[in-house]
Amino acid sequence: MNTKLLLMLLSGTLLFSPAPLRQTSIPTAAPIYTSDGQLRFPENYRDWIYLTSGFDMSYNPAMNMDHHMFDNVFANPDAYRSFLQTGTWPDKTMLVLEVRGAQSKGSINKAGNYQGITLMGLEVHVKDEARFPGKWAFFGFGDNKTATMTPQTAECYSCHANHAAVDTTFVQFYPTLLPIATAKGTLSPSYVKEIAPPTSTKDAPGGTSSPQP
Ligand code: HEC
Repeated sequence: MNTKLLLMLLSGTLLFSPAPLRQTSIPTAAPIYTSDGQLRFPENYRDWIYLTSGFDMSYNPAMNMDHHMFDNVFANPDAYRSFLQTGTWPDKTMLVLEVRGAQSKGSINKAGNYQGITLMGLEVHVKDEARFPGKWAFFGFGDNKTATMTPQTAECYSCHANHAAVDTTFVQFYPTLLPIATAKGTLSPSYVKEIAPPTSTKDAPGGTSSPQP
């Protein structure tokens, strides 16, 4: 093929390239609030970046559930890309946790569990520095398309603040992000302390390790 024809074809391709399949441009996924401060449900979160699935995770060792559950975590794409660069979350980050019941009997399945269609819960963690006193806020969605902010006195905030690996988010359970946060040195001091091996004083006489209680 001669160069002229090739050029014509190429320019033709550019000129007449079909419109993007999606009607709307890629949603930027910044949090949107109602006039009375409720968060609008992020309808397109399933197009976002997948971080993890937890299975039967529980904060309470004694908890004995009569059913199994999966949770799936998603991040809005802009925030995810920023995390890859910096190891932490930018302003306007939205993280979604959806909970689904585990199913075992269906189709050809003989063992193990898969995720059911019904949503059992959907919670959003939003970073909006100018809006929330602690920079982040939680919103739990029920059947409505808007949700009020979970009060800051709720246990959600203290557990996330005290135990989460990066900026009140549980990056220690998000396998693609933990190595990045570790490399960039953005792990929270409380998490670093939590995972530090116990220092043995008897092995290090006169060493620099601090005395254990
Ligand atoms: C005792 C600790 C604890 C409490 C209390 C808690 N969470 Fe979490 N949360 C976690 C853990 C652990 C994960 C990681 C889940 C995973 O890996 O699948 C998580 C993840 C999340 C995420 C995904 C984004 C992120 O921040 O990492 C959201 C959203 C979330 N929790 C909302 C809530 C809400 C809302 C409440 C209160 C109703 C709450 N959590 C209470 C431990 C806690």
